[in-house]
Amino acid sequence: MNLLTQALHLLGSGAMSYISARNLRDLQTRPNMLAGFQLAEAGAVPFLEALSQRAAAEGDEWLSESLARHAQDERRHAQIFAHALKQLNKQVIDFKQVPEKKADGQTDERRRSPFFEAYYEGYKDALAPQKIDWMVFFISTHILELDAGKDFARMATVLPDTDAASANLKKGLISIANDEQRHASYLLEAARRRSPYVEVSALVDHWRTRKVNALMAMVGNLLNKGGEIPSLARDGVPPEMTENPMETDPAMAAA
Ligand SMILES: [Fe+2]
Ligand SMILES: [Fe+2]
Repeated sequence: MNLLTQALHLLGSGAMSYISARNLRDLQTRPNMLAGFQLAEAGAVPFLEALSQRAAAEGDEWLSESLARHAQDERRHAQIFAHALKQLNKQVIDFKQVPEKKADGQTDERRRSPFFEAYYEGYKDALAPQKIDWMVFFISTHILELDAGKDFARMATVLPDTDAASANLKKGLISIANDEQRHASYLLEAARRRSPYVEVSALVDHWRTRKVNALMAMVGNLLNKGGEIPSLARDGVPPEMTENPMETDPAMAAA
């Protein structure tokens, strides 16, 4: 798994919901938030696809299909955020242009996440899709999806209906929030299919505690930097982007 994309997934997945809601409402800071979400959602796709293949290879058809659908959803979420950026004449930065280390030898802060580091502390060598423990994946991701669903729904409520870009994004966020709820549910079901109730409950508690601690680590880090989020958006629209995923996706059109 790529540390950067996973870190951004977590950044997008709600640990910063209170800051996110404020920054999303403000047109000045909105592009940066959208870019972070786009990178996060897109970054989760290859990981989920690899897990889907592993589940198939292990003979768990139900899990493989659920993971494949999950990957598709996250791809669509990335498109929704990309489209919202495009409406503001922005696009994500090209990470190939961002040097891994800064002049002072420190890793560029856009390439690391204190939240991710704290949440998965002690697991870092065991997070590759080929070897991650299924229960660790199910429950740690269940917690993140559950919170992401609530966070995206909350973000939708702070957006005004007064301009097309905001109204469109609001619709997208509500649809994304529903998907994240569904992801949280199937992941919990996957865990229950494999382990007894007591064990699953203990793991849910464990990862909830980790989430809280990781959130505190991240907020501490953010306060040190004066609340500033590293820049992830740049001007311009990518030439390949012409479609509005809200219009072309039948599921969205029906919603
Ligand atoms: Fe998502
Ligand atoms: Fe999700």
